[in-house]
Amino acid sequence: MAETTHNTTKHVASPLARQTLLDNDLTRPVAGRRPIRILPWVHVVKIGGRAIMDRGADAILPVVDELRKLLPERRLLILTGAGIRARHLYGVGLDLGLPVGSLAPLAASEAGQNGHILAALLAPEGVSYVEHPTMASQLAIHLSAARAVVGSAFPPYHHHEFTTSRIPTHRADVGAFLLADALGAAGLTIVEDVDGVYDVDPHGDGGKQARLIGETSAADLAKQAGTLPLDRALFEVMARARHLERVQVINGLVPGRITAAVRGEHVGTLIRTGARPA
Ligand SMILES: Nc1ncnc2c1ncn2[C@@H]1O[C@H](COP(=O)(O)OP(=O)(O)O)[C@@H](O)[C@H]1O
Ligand SMILES: [Mg+2]
Repeated sequence: MAETTHNTTKHVASPLARQTLLDNDLTRPVAGRRPIRILPWVHVVKIGGRAIMDRGADAILPVVDELRKLLPERRLLILTGAGIRARHLYGVGLDLGLPVGSLAPLAASEAGQNGHILAALLAPEGVSYVEHPTMASQLAIHLSAARAVVGSAFPPYHHHEFTTSRIPTHRADVGAFLLADALGAAGLTIVEDVDGVYDVDPHGDGGKQARLIGETSAADLAKQAGTLPLDRALFEVMARARHLERVQVINGLVPGRITAAVRGEHVGTLIRTGARPA
């Protein structure tokens, strides 16, 4: 609200007007409050590029069928990741010396392609693919007109991607989580081709002894050595979650698991975030 003083100079009344934004103690009274939930009824389902989409019809069609059957019951934001084509692009790009900020949009384009595939298959249900700017500003109207929309899970960092590594560190799991938490969504289900997160890769050497982790925390997973089916940068953003208290990693190749997870049943690995209960 603008106030006009006697010399007609305009002052903008703001509790942050005379403070540096770098001092957390000063900003906390204003910025420390929990943000509102923008779309509390939407369930976010992230479909793995490598785990599901790269397998073609055998894996995709049953997943599409399950998502279709869920629509009368839940409103969904379906986000797709990148798979084998992004890995090929990374290989070619790294060979050519491309910087990480050029590799990120190349991989993101594959996540988008996977989204277009899913959206085409769900089109008879009124589902369409929406680009990031539409997700940012018009998701509510799209989800009021249709029971679900599909988008790319890859965050649009592009040339803003951190230079921590030559391969983009903020990939589809991170993008899906940031979006779900920003929306204050009802939940996030990450769909893989294994029953959840194991202590070691169930498809790797010694995979026969791999033990499924039923429930864990982002902080504990960050400490787990070896490979994971999730982007490691995910644990950093999960630690600072504002709404989502947990995410679930499930096996999309087993019929019924996506439905059960969206309904809140424990059918994979539950990962607790740093968000406090409301
Ligand atoms: N600790 C682990 N627990 C579960 N899966 C793992 C683990 N380490 C590696 N993986 C492997 O990750 C694979 C999924 O690969 P990922 O790159 O996450 O696919 P997507 O691109 O679909 O997310 C699984 O099939 C599994 O073999
Ligand atoms: Mg994965």
